[in-house]
Amino acid sequence: MKTSFLPEIEDISSHETWFAGYVEGQYALCEGDAGPMRLKATHTLAVLGHARRIAREEGFAPHIVRACLLAALYHDVARFAQYLRYGTFRDRDSRNHGLWGAAILKREGRLAREERTVRRLVLAAVALHNRYALPAALPAEMACVASTVRDADKLDILRVMDEHLSGPRPYCPTVVLGLPDAADRVSEKVLEDARRGRVAAYADLRSVNDFRVLLGTWIDDMHFASSRRLFAASPHAVRLLADLPRRGPYAGVRACLLERLARGRREDALPDGDA
Ligand SMILES: [Fe+2]
Repeated sequence: MKTSFLPEIEDISSHETWFAGYVEGQYALCEGDAGPMRLKATHTLAVLGHARRIAREEGFAPHIVRACLLAALYHDVARFAQYLRYGTFRDRDSRNHGLWGAAILKREGRLAREERTVRRLVLAAVALHNRYALPAALPAEMACVASTVRDADKLDILRVMDEHLSGPRPYCPTVVLGLPDAADRVSEKVLEDARRGRVAAYADLRSVNDFRVLLGTWIDDMHFASSRRLFAASPHAVRLLADLPRRGPYAGVRACLLERLARGRREDALPDGDA
């Protein structure tokens, strides 16, 4: 595990200052409940923290590290305008927030002072971070930055969903994508994906329990050894899955996904050379 620290490369404080001012301005425009927007700002900083850790542990080249940090900071920049204009975070009921985010960064000239290579990597990662899968022919450096943001994003979504679903009811419909917390709404497609070790799709979700399963299937979608390790060790992942019903249609998938996490933690505990 490499853990190098590159002070100048990792210093994105001017971008963080702009981002903080931008979100404050967006809150001020909100006439309703700005709570969901605040959650997105907190999420952004947590994703930045995960991306920094992955980039360090994977020992990326300096320009890749910088692109990872900037892409993490800006990956959800469109979420604020999306909520203000449409009152939802569902892209299919509004706009694709990845593509929209890249457009905002260009409009605001946020990357004008960055090296051209870094600029291209950041814009691509922001635009692609929310795709179900990355394009197969993506250049290696773009795939690396986009994968870092996607893994970091997923790691913090575990926290967001766990804190929300483990808290006092009722659920906030916006956070759970408007899905009902109904025991009788089961997506067979989501369960089948989980059994076969495939990543479940948002489009197939029918209930909050399906969402828990989808989150658990992400263990097999972590792109790097470091992010897989972080996922397997996440107490949020364990709780989200442990709170699935122990009987009925979810029981088998619950046990199977919890075992997959435990296996990931055991692999992590093996001495170097055995893993
Ligand atoms: Fe996003």
